Amino acid sequence: MAVRTIRVIGDEILYKECKPVKEMTQRVEELIEDMFETMYENNGVGLAAPQVGILKQIVVIDVDDGNQYVLINPEIIEEEGSQTGQEGCLSVPGKAGIVTRPQKVKVKALDENMEEFVLEGEDLLARAICHECAHLHGQLYVSLVEGELMDTTEEVEE
Ligand code: NI
Repeated sequence: MAVRTIRVIGDEILYKECKPVKEMTQRVEELIEDMFETMYENNGVGLAAPQVGILKQIVVIDVDDGNQYVLINPEIIEEEGSQTGQEGCLSVPGKAGIVTRPQKVKVKALDENMEEFVLEGEDLLARAICHECAHLHGQLYVSLVEGELMDTTEEVEE
């Protein structure tokens, strides 16, 4: 396992469309392990593969609910309600902004065994799912910020 370098805003890889994962390989397994390690090292609650320079549709999330979520080729299939709150991103260090997201989402994805599952998330988990899935389509939360980006010292980073 290794902590990988996080790409930051301005890096063109963050604005590209990621490719679906076709099969689980040792490389992909290692990537997922490294993504968790990189996320924890940086006190994040989520990380998407393009943030470590890999254009694959892979997301890891840990919002401290006792689960480590791996979403491969995720697709949000339902959204409900809305929540407005502060959001940050490991690729936008030292900043945070107010973003409105669905209160609840359902996402369909493949797990590490390439088996399909549906995950339902509310509150922070819903926010993290939306934020990370957007990374896979080259979108950063900064384009959704209401008002100004603020300086921050830490808080939630995705
Ligand atoms: Ni992010």
